[in-house]
Amino acid sequence: MNVTIKSSEEQDKMRVAGRLAADVLDMIGEHVKPGITTGELDDICHHYITEVQDAIPAPLNYRGFPKSICTSINHVVCHGIPGDRKLKTGDSINIDITVIKHGFHGDTSRMFFVGKPTVLAERLSKVAFESMWLGINEMAPGKYLGDIGNAIQKNIEKHYFSVVREYCGHGIGRGFHEDPQVLHYGEIGTGLKLTPGMAMTVEPMVNAGKPGVRLLPDGWTVVTKDHKLSAQWEHTILVTETGYEVLTLGAEDR
Ligand code: MF3
Ligand code: CO
Ligand code: CO
Repeated sequence: MNVTIKSSEEQDKMRVAGRLAADVLDMIGEHVKPGITTGELDDICHHYITEVQDAIPAPLNYRGFPKSICTSINHVVCHGIPGDRKLKTGDSINIDITVIKHGFHGDTSRMFFVGKPTVLAERLSKVAFESMWLGINEMAPGKYLGDIGNAIQKNIEKHYFSVVREYCGHGIGRGFHEDPQVLHYGEIGTGLKLTPGMAMTVEPMVNAGKPGVRLLPDGWTVVTKDHKLSAQWEHTILVTETGYEVLTLGAEDR
């Protein structure tokens, strides 16, 4: 395992990349409306990232991914490919943005609802959001990766939802996906011990039904095996001397 520790100059670059990624989500929210296609959302984000932010959309051509953002609707767990699918009232969609600026990555995703969500979709998204924050709140020097995963898993299972195991959070910096893997389940006091200057994502995927997932033949789109709903939120976080700093807060939260 090769966990990079960011210098204070590198931390400043991570702050910039994180803010830009959050700005894209702030920008795209008003476009999430019935009738727009996920391909149009991708076009808008691509243009904003490349022309307004003078940054690079990290997903584009990453291991062959064909678009600039991920759009995961309803039972899609993650890595949905933007295309011709039109949003309709009642859909819930995760939009996942990763930008590169001055060589460093910022990675964040949120859930959006098209019109009024169903009660289940709203509860699931809320539990995913809360679970992400419970995990983030465990982050401090001397704490363990297992503390993060345990806090997330406990909250999800308390609500009788399930944690996806096949995909996880990750170290982040000059690389999109660096060590360590940040599991969204686990035991307190196990795994890597956190130290200041580490940067990683916390991005739990929460299923309404069973935890199992399936990869579609396009090689990217991950769906729930039982076709029940899934939800996810993601932040990029820096471990500081005293705790943590979330680098991808939206304008409303900073
Ligand atoms: N942004 C995703 C993550 O949170 C990764 C997307 S990889 C892509 O790690 F190729 F699908 F873009
Ligand atoms: Co990520
Ligand atoms: Co992401």
